[in-house]
Amino acid sequence: MAPIDLETIWQKARSELACAGDANTLDAWRLAYLGRQGAVTQVLRLLGDLPVEERRTVGARANDLKRELERALAERAEELERLAIAEIESVALDVTLPGRKGPVGRLHPISQTMRDILSSLTEMGFQVAEGPEVEWEYYNFEALRIPEHHPARDSQDTFWLDFRKDGKRNMLLRTQTSPMQIRFMETHQPPIRVAVPGRVYRYEATDATHEWMITQVELLAVDEGINFRHMKGCLTQLAQSLFGRDRSVRFRCDYFPFVEPGAEVAIECGLCHGAGCRSCGNEGYLEIAGAGMVHREILENVGYDADRYTGFAAGFGVERIAMLRYGIDDIRHFYGNDLRFLRKF
Ligand code: DAH
Repeated sequence: MAPIDLETIWQKARSELACAGDANTLDAWRLAYLGRQGAVTQVLRLLGDLPVEERRTVGARANDLKRELERALAERAEELERLAIAEIESVALDVTLPGRKGPVGRLHPISQTMRDILSSLTEMGFQVAEGPEVEWEYYNFEALRIPEHHPARDSQDTFWLDFRKDGKRNMLLRTQTSPMQIRFMETHQPPIRVAVPGRVYRYEATDATHEWMITQVELLAVDEGINFRHMKGCLTQLAQSLFGRDRSVRFRCDYFPFVEPGAEVAIECGLCHGAGCRSCGNEGYLEIAGAGMVHREILENVGYDADRYTGFAAGFGVERIAMLRYGIDDIRHFYGNDLRFLRKF
């Protein structure tokens, strides 16, 4: 074995190593030179055939070569690892960068107003309950003392369902949240403080102040000793939490078949503060709710002892409140799905 062979092995091994670009190629290279059948191992194995002198020099050189190749292999492996890491770093996600903002929606102005109303009521101890939008005529009208030919039905034009029982159409889309007063009292005993948010439907032509679907919040409190002052206090607190402490709240007689006495609740006009202006139709006040003391007959009909328990009820129109709060002049904006309008809230 001539020394020149070792030199050739060294040259070849080094150039191959420089080209090896991944772990598999490196491993193949290691087997080709340093493995049991590898070139250097073969040389060492043949040493015994050489004359003593030559064996010593060639042996020493072969061992040097082996060490050099091992060192070169380790270096190349390290270099490849460094390159791999650099590559990963150049394309990897920098988790320390601030994130990109995605498009975030917002709450509809009716939802916002509803949340404000309910948070004020829950603070005062009201629980929240919901009822069905498809309702029996009984709960929507009769149980609320609005019999079939009562004029109060005229002001609540109704979407009737085709469903018939006893030859009569007696299911409808509720025209008010008040039916939940009855449903709730039927299933609960006093003390009651409940707020009922929900949609109601009326078969009417739409214009700037009328929609065929609106949102209401019903209030009902029944307990021993509840009187008109409790009603005024509670409704004043609610109205002022929505419109501000500086706005006074006015109660005037009104008629609703299910309360006695009944009242109309109005908030002082924010523009003229009661003096009367165009915005409030010269009234000075803007109506926001109907209310009253729960009619004795209604308490009796749900099985309550009407000598022991009294209560008040109220119904708020949420669109109306939102219009007054935000200065919206047309109720149809709420459900027109015009993003230019919705983005203002
Ligand atoms: N339900 C009535 C309506 O939609 C509003 C109302 C008036 C509710 C008086 C009440 C009440 O609870 O006491 O016009």
